[in-house]
Amino acid sequence: MSQFQRGVYISTYGCQMNVNDSERMYSLLEMLDYHPVPSPEQASLIIINSCSVREKPVHKVHSEVGRYKDLKSKNPALKIGVGGCVAQQEKNKLLGDIPLLDFVFGTDAIDELPGIVSGLEKGEAKLNKTRFSHGQPYQVETLITNPGVSTFVNITKGCDNFCTFCVVPFTRGRERSRKLSELITDIQALVKRGVKEVTLLGQNVNSYRSECGTDFGGLLKAVAEDTDVSRIRYTTSHPKDFNQELVDISQKYREKICDYIHLPVQCGNSEVLERMNRGYTREEYLDKVKMIKQAIPGVALSTDIIVGFPGETEAQFEETLSLIEEVRYDGIYAFKYSPRPFTKAARWEDQLTDAEKSIRLDRVFALQRPLALELAQENLGGTFEVLVEEIDAEGMAFGRNTQNRKTKFPAMGKNPGDFAMVKIEKARPSLLQGLMVEH
Ligand code: SAH
Ligand code: SF4
Ligand code: F3S
Repeated sequence: MSQFQRGVYISTYGCQMNVNDSERMYSLLEMLDYHPVPSPEQASLIIINSCSVREKPVHKVHSEVGRYKDLKSKNPALKIGVGGCVAQQEKNKLLGDIPLLDFVFGTDAIDELPGIVSGLEKGEAKLNKTRFSHGQPYQVETLITNPGVSTFVNITKGCDNFCTFCVVPFTRGRERSRKLSELITDIQALVKRGVKEVTLLGQNVNSYRSECGTDFGGLLKAVAEDTDVSRIRYTTSHPKDFNQELVDISQKYREKICDYIHLPVQCGNSEVLERMNRGYTREEYLDKVKMIKQAIPGVALSTDIIVGFPGETEAQFEETLSLIEEVRYDGIYAFKYSPRPFTKAARWEDQLTDAEKSIRLDRVFALQRPLALELAQENLGGTFEVLVEEIDAEGMAFGRNTQNRKTKFPAMGKNPGDFAMVKIEKARPSLLQGLMVEH
C-alpha cells in the first residue's frame, strides 16, 4: 500500500461556485481521511468538477478521464468521479459513455460525497446521483481548509433568470438563498480565522432573499454592521436588479463595501438583449452605470460580453462596441456565443459561423486594449489602500485596492492581512506598482 492510499485529486473548471464546491469536497472527504494530493498520479480518488457554460465541455471531461486510463490499469482500486455542471447536464449518460468512470454526482449532491465514496470503497456498483433537491433549504457552512485573507462565501445557489443562451438554470437548479442569520455567523467565523475580505457569491446576488424577508441590500447592511469583516465584495450583479437602494447602501458603507462592480451587459443592442431575455435595454443599462458612477466616483466596473448571439447583425454588434467605449470598463470578459443544451437560443436557426464570431471577438479585444491601458494610467500618482494577500520570495507584497486592481509594492515589514497605503508609480491594466507611503 502506498502512503497515498487515501489521496484525493480534484480538477476544477468553471466559475467561483465550482472553486468553492471543490473546497467543500476536500473538506468533506477529510472526514473519510482523504487528504489532497498535488497530482493525479498520487491519488486514489480523482474528481473532475466540471463546467458546461461554454464550448465542448463534455469533450473536455472525456479527454481528461482518458488521460487517467494508465493510472486506472496500474491501480484498479483508483476511483474516478465527475461532479459539477457537466455531471448535472449529462447524468447517467456519462457513466454509459465513459466506462472508466465510477460515479457521477450533481450540483446538489456534494454533501453526499462521503457516503458515495465510502459506498464505492465497500464495492458498491457505479453510481449516479444527479437529482436536484429543490425542496430542501440551502444550508451550508463555508468549508475551506485554508481561507486566507480573502475568501468567497456563497449566498445563493441556482438561477431562475433563464437567459436564452445560458445553461446554468439547468445545471444548478432553482435559485435558493441561505438564511441571513447563518450567513452572519459563517462570515464572523471566517473573520476569526483571519479573513479580512469576503466576496458574496451568487449567479444573481441581487435577487438574494432570506427566509426572514431580508433582501440583498439588507444583507449587505447586515454584513457591514454585524460582522468584523474589513471589506465586502459581491458577484455577480444582474443589471436588471441593480437599483438605487444598492447604490445608496454602497455609498453609506463605503468604508467596507468595495468600489468595484461586475455588471455583465452581454450586448449593447436592445433587440438582442430582449432576445437574450436579459430584462433591460441598452438605455436602462447605461442609466444604471451613470447612477453608479455619480454616487461612487472612481468606481471600477467590469463586464461580460457575448459576441455572435444568433441573429446578431453587424450594426447590432457595433452597438456593443460603442457601449464599451461609453462605459469605459476596467475589465471585459468576452466570449463567442456557444449553443448550450436545453437553452432556447441553441434551437434558433440564425446561428453565426465560428469565423464570424472570432472576428467580432477580436474586435472587442482590439477596442478594449488601449481603453484599459488609458484607464490604468489614470491611476498614476494616486494613493490607494491595499489589502496585502501575499508576499513573494523577493519581498514584494501583492494585494488589491478597493477597485479590485492588483497592486505590487515592496512589503517593508507588511504581512498578509495588513493594509498599506500605496502610491502608484507604474500602471498596466493587469498590475499597478508603487511604494508605500505614510498615512
Ligand atoms: N450569472 C452571471 C453569469 C454566469 S455565466 C450573469 O448573469 O451575468 C458567466 C458568463 O458566461 C456570462 O455572463 C456570459 O457572458 C457567458 N456565457 C454564458 N452562457 C454562454 C454561452 N452560451 N455562450 C457564450 N458565453 C456564455
Ligand atoms: Fe445564466 Fe442569466 Fe442566470 Fe446569469 S442570470 S446564470 S446568464 S441565466
Ligand atoms: Fe460553469 Fe456551472 Fe459555473 S456551468 S460557470 S461551473 S455554474
